[in-house]
Amino acid sequence: MENFVWKCPTRLVFGKDVIGTVADFVQSENGTRVLLVYGGGSIKKSGVYKTVTDSLKNAGIEFVELSGVQPNPRLSLVLEGIDTVRREKIDFILAVGGGSVIDTCKAISFGDAVPSDKDIWDDYFMVKGAPIPKGINVGVVLTIPAAGSEMSNSCVITNEKTGYKRGVNHENNYPAFAVLDPQVCYTLPPYQTACGAADMLSHMMERYFTPTENVDYTDALLEGAMRTVLQYGPLACKNPTVYEYREQLMLAGTLAHNNLFGCGRVQDWASHWMEHELSGLYDIAHGAGLAIMTPAWMRYVYKTKVSRFVQFAVNVMGSSMSIADEDKIALDGIARLEDWFKSIGLPVRLSEVNINGDRIDDMVKQCLDGGRGVAGGFKKLYAEDLAAIYRIAL
Ligand code: NZQ
Ligand code: ZN
Repeated sequence: MENFVWKCPTRLVFGKDVIGTVADFVQSENGTRVLLVYGGGSIKKSGVYKTVTDSLKNAGIEFVELSGVQPNPRLSLVLEGIDTVRREKIDFILAVGGGSVIDTCKAISFGDAVPSDKDIWDDYFMVKGAPIPKGINVGVVLTIPAAGSEMSNSCVITNEKTGYKRGVNHENNYPAFAVLDPQVCYTLPPYQTACGAADMLSHMMERYFTPTENVDYTDALLEGAMRTVLQYGPLACKNPTVYEYREQLMLAGTLAHNNLFGCGRVQDWASHWMEHELSGLYDIAHGAGLAIMTPAWMRYVYKTKVSRFVQFAVNVMGSSMSIADEDKIALDGIARLEDWFKSIGLPVRLSEVNINGDRIDDMVKQCLDGGRGVAGGFKKLYAEDLAAIYRIAL
């Protein structure tokens, strides 16, 4: 294993009917005047909005609303949110939604604390490793298990003017708390459930495919977590209102990305980087983009350390060790993963989401911009490698 420091300060509140208690957690963070942020209205249809606002009103907590967060959240709404925080003297930000809403809130929070001589986009999102200033506390009511932002140190925003989608990771990005009631997932359409399952599975795979040796303990955690998603993802797509399916996925999605599973391991993240160029330029769902890019990445890199792909095929995907050679077992595991994505209605080729190869050069360039230069921890990938992987995905 590698040396590591692991810290996750987010308080996790999990179970049936916990959303009605959200005001208690806002108060425990000294929130008195809240910016309530949400997306396109699903929380009004599902009743979550009423539960949250009743809880705040009953506790005497004032709130101002910022709605209209879009999937692949836009920088312009972040800037609007920063203005609102300053104008309304907000002291706490509450995200009610999925990764897009949560990341908008994280960016508003640290954007408000950015020194006046710095620019939130150019000096933070476009600079790898920029130290994020500590802003107003953010709390979360999660409505879709997917991105894991509710317990992660990441914040991913799209600059709609340039088409760049960029994430920043810093410990000041952790939410103070996350309230998760699996019942809120009952209203999720099967496609969103599937995209969420693909994303959490990818957060596990990005950590699983490592060059680091002696990682048996986190391998075991990851393999169990991946099998759980493979089992319950399709069940939740078919039976959206079964609590037992939703709770398994919701816990898996959150723990997939608080980096517990990544302790002591070199991680990969090339599939995520390549996907962010897709959803940044073409506005597709992040989970769908991962279902396309991950098998393509796997086919390109598996020979780098075929034993790891054999372990994945056998321990996670159910391939048989009796298949004659290692390459064939590895490829069988990748084919099974691709079939699983298809079985839950996800695309596995760029052509299925109407993307042809005419912007591959742009995506490769953007992917390596901002001082990155190289992608991937399992195998280092340069421009020609990334272009080849995009072509495999066509
Ligand atoms: O906008 P509303 O009306 O809320 O509808 C949303 C949205 O259309 C809908 N939805 C959410 N909960 C629902 C619901 N519909 C019915 N019932 C419910 N209970 O689902 C749609 C997708 O929402 P979104 O927040 O975009 O999904 P997700 O959680 O997958 O977030 C995706 C974003 O997170 C980023 C992705 O790149 C993408 O921008 N990521 C963030 C990460 C992080 N901060 O740690 C890590 C990830 O790797 C990822 O990059
Ligand atoms: Zn992701």
